[in-house]
Amino acid sequence: MKRIKLWDKEFEISISEGKIQQAIKKMADQMRSELEGKEVIFLCILNGSFIFSADLMKELELADAEITFLKLASYSGTQSSGNLKELIGLNENLQGRNIVILEDIVDSGFTIADVVRQVKGKGAADVKVATLLFKPDSLKTEVSLNYIGLEIPNDFIVGYGLDYNGRGRNLKDIYTLVPD
Ligand code: IMP
Ligand code: MG
Repeated sequence: MKRIKLWDKEFEISISEGKIQQAIKKMADQMRSELEGKEVIFLCILNGSFIFSADLMKELELADAEITFLKLASYSGTQSSGNLKELIGLNENLQGRNIVILEDIVDSGFTIADVVRQVKGKGAADVKVATLLFKPDSLKTEVSLNYIGLEIPNDFIVGYGLDYNGRGRNLKDIYTLVPD
């Protein structure tokens, strides 16, 4: 098994590039049949979803797709509370629009639940979620995931957009942390 070292940690390949691309093709087929003919804005959650979003969008080939990008930042100062994140860089008017949020991974689910709540709060008509990866055993809140690429065990992973302390995002395959 191929291994890599990022900072102080060892990772072992767990999901090959081929398996990732196959999962994306399957998601794209499902999404195309449900979204064809609709005007959709895809919201790519940076940084982790950048590679997934690019590959999915190319595979999907929807004529009327708009793609936009946003970052999540923790609220500063007195507003800081728990998991609440501020959406940064979202300038589009979402009023009455069909939204598909593109996320790299759903772990506890708090992040995506918060993004969905805020996007709905901006008046979107329909909000769907597409996540490449889902850790079902890790879920701690109620979320509705419309499109899931792969369900994975509750282990820390890197690659294909996902990082460990800023490194590993550029890897083609996905790697799992090897316990010390
Ligand atoms: P959640 O709010 O717990 O669902 O976490 C979602 C976010 O945590 C993801 O968007 C990732 O940025 C990060 N994350 C969760 N699991 C992993 C992992 O295994 N590797 C790298 N980042 C992860
Ligand atoms: Mg993320």
